[in-house]
Amino acid sequence: MDTRGSKFLAADALEDIGSNPTGNPTLADVLEERFGRRDVMRGLLAGALAGPALLSVRPAEAAEKGMAAAEGKPAFTFTEIAHGVDATHHVAPGYDARVLIRWGDPILPGAPAFDPMKQTAATQAQQFGYNNDFVGFAPLPRGSKSADRGLLCVNHEYTDEEVMFPGLGGEQGKANFAKMTRELVDIEMAAHGGSVVEIRKVKGVWTYDAKSPFNRRITAETEIAVSGPAAGHALLKTAGDPTGRRVRGMLNNCSGGVTPWGTWLSCEENVNSYFWGKLADDHPQAKAFKRYGIPANVFNWGQHHDRFDVNKEPNEANRFGWVVEIDPYDPNATPKKRTALGRFKHEACTLAVGKDGTVVAYTGDDERFDYVYKFVAKKKFNAKNRAANMDLLDEGTLYVAKFGANGTVDWLPLVHGHGPLTAENGFPDQATVLVHARLAGDALGATKMDRPEDIEVNQKTGRVYVVLTNNDKRKPEQIDAVNPRAANEWGQIVEILPIDGDHAAMKSEWRMLVRGGSPAVGGQFHAETTDNGWFACPDNLAADNHGRLWVATDQGTAWAKASGTADGIWAIETDGPRRGLSKMFFRVPVGAEMCGPCFTPDDRTLFVAVQHPATDGVDLWEGFKGKVSTFEDPATRWPDFKDGTPPRPSVVAITKTGGGVIGS
Ligand code: FEO
Ligand code: CA
Ligand code: CA
Repeated sequence: MDTRGSKFLAADALEDIGSNPTGNPTLADVLEERFGRRDVMRGLLAGALAGPALLSVRPAEAAEKGMAAAEGKPAFTFTEIAHGVDATHHVAPGYDARVLIRWGDPILPGAPAFDPMKQTAATQAQQFGYNNDFVGFAPLPRGSKSADRGLLCVNHEYTDEEVMFPGLGGEQGKANFAKMTRELVDIEMAAHGGSVVEIRKVKGVWTYDAKSPFNRRITAETEIAVSGPAAGHALLKTAGDPTGRRVRGMLNNCSGGVTPWGTWLSCEENVNSYFWGKLADDHPQAKAFKRYGIPANVFNWGQHHDRFDVNKEPNEANRFGWVVEIDPYDPNATPKKRTALGRFKHEACTLAVGKDGTVVAYTGDDERFDYVYKFVAKKKFNAKNRAANMDLLDEGTLYVAKFGANGTVDWLPLVHGHGPLTAENGFPDQATVLVHARLAGDALGATKMDRPEDIEVNQKTGRVYVVLTNNDKRKPEQIDAVNPRAANEWGQIVEILPIDGDHAAMKSEWRMLVRGGSPAVGGQFHAETTDNGWFACPDNLAADNHGRLWVATDQGTAWAKASGTADGIWAIETDGPRRGLSKMFFRVPVGAEMCGPCFTPDDRTLFVAVQHPATDGVDLWEGFKGKVSTFEDPATRWPDFKDGTPPRPSVVAITKTGGGVIGS
């Protein structure tokens, strides 16, 4: 989600502490020293420094051979669609985009059909949840490369109550709380979390199997184990769980990842939204809570459930903000919060496995001025023994990134006792370093980024793509080489190049792929990119199995200012003479953001997730001018377009008409 979205505007001052008050030197300091303040302020150097020449990087073999771009041919041959905004979705000509599963569709035995006038928490817990974000595909049978039968693993990030429930009126932030009864809050809690659902492609068309024994719902009440170094720590103990090892639920699961051993990583992002009340200024955890923006009072769950009230149960907040690992092949397996990967607003978690089996997980903290991280597991991946990999993410070293103006990345370890991470500085043990990872990153002097969203490893080339979505609060004196624009409404995509292919090394190199926005506002794409080809506010990424990159956007309520188009999917060249050439492939209905995207192993299906249709910035659309959506009168009733049926977040399956590889 983009916390500039309508739900969060009222809470902005509290929630988005904006958020990093430390005096960590920005790279502008380094640049100023080398090139003088005037050029830095004018932004002239940043582009040049982010240029492509990085001599020590050896392109991976796969990038040198085989790829179309390296031969001078375009990687994408589809006809792009136009920027625009309307009530429905659009895909490039020659493709079919069919709704596969929608909020409220029954997926567990005995679940009733969706009836928006008869919602209960019990029925919602048996139906597909709200606001589908991350989408993963786990082939069936497990271990196969099946591309026509598998388990769809989907995050349900949050809820938009004003278009879910009748009678609430338009969303006005806190004004809605009075009408948000315990009953409605419990439905919201059941609509959060995730879904596993079996899907099949028959005669070219995908359907889901409501009767599959693999189907599962995880909600804000599902029991989840805490594992890794912080499990059982005093900061995680509550009245409801004196062990500090058993949490109820996962929250605000945004993007995620899949592991080579066939598990799903689901990332808890804006978890501060769910906490209620006000922590006393002299509370021992006051500094950490402020750094994490807790409580944000966006949802009123704390009015009805004590554990979300920080006055009654402050430690409950420490039990959210983690990467959760789920085995989709075992519906009875307890999901695990992997504390070794740190606690912050995880957007995503993507793995690279080295030739020697070293597992590296990249993950970012989606807040203005927050950090990029990677985790290096201690034990190696074992391709022959799945069970040996199941707790790999419990042991290892977490690092935070410091981006150099000269194109290097230094990875700084978050290890208790190392450098400033000592008891005297508020880090008495490794668990505290991980629970307060943001504070540890501050102490180490990490680079303050423009909201790190998805990070994707291109498994063909070994290069890593980091999305920085936007940061309208960056001031001219705060720009640096990797965050080169002040009042950045448009974002950028950064490429990290592991030196000699070693993801685990403490140094990498980086260069800019593109800067978002139109050329008029400093957007930088390949010169042949059309007026429909550039994008703003990149959010999610997918590298397909041919090694090509696809970008999903989330402009929030700022879409009119950022680009004038609804969000969507763009394909972007990353190699050869067309590097940075981008084309629009898919567009969402008004008020939605684009999530997913996910390819089947044969690249013949692209799953995309349409999140919160009819909500963000609909007042700016000429078809709904000046209005806000309600259950009774939404800006669009996508995808059902039936009177009385509200808009429904849905996963869409895109295939080529008659079959074929997407994009070619
Ligand atoms: Fe949930 Fe950072 O988007
Ligand atoms: Ca988003
Ligand atoms: Ca996102």
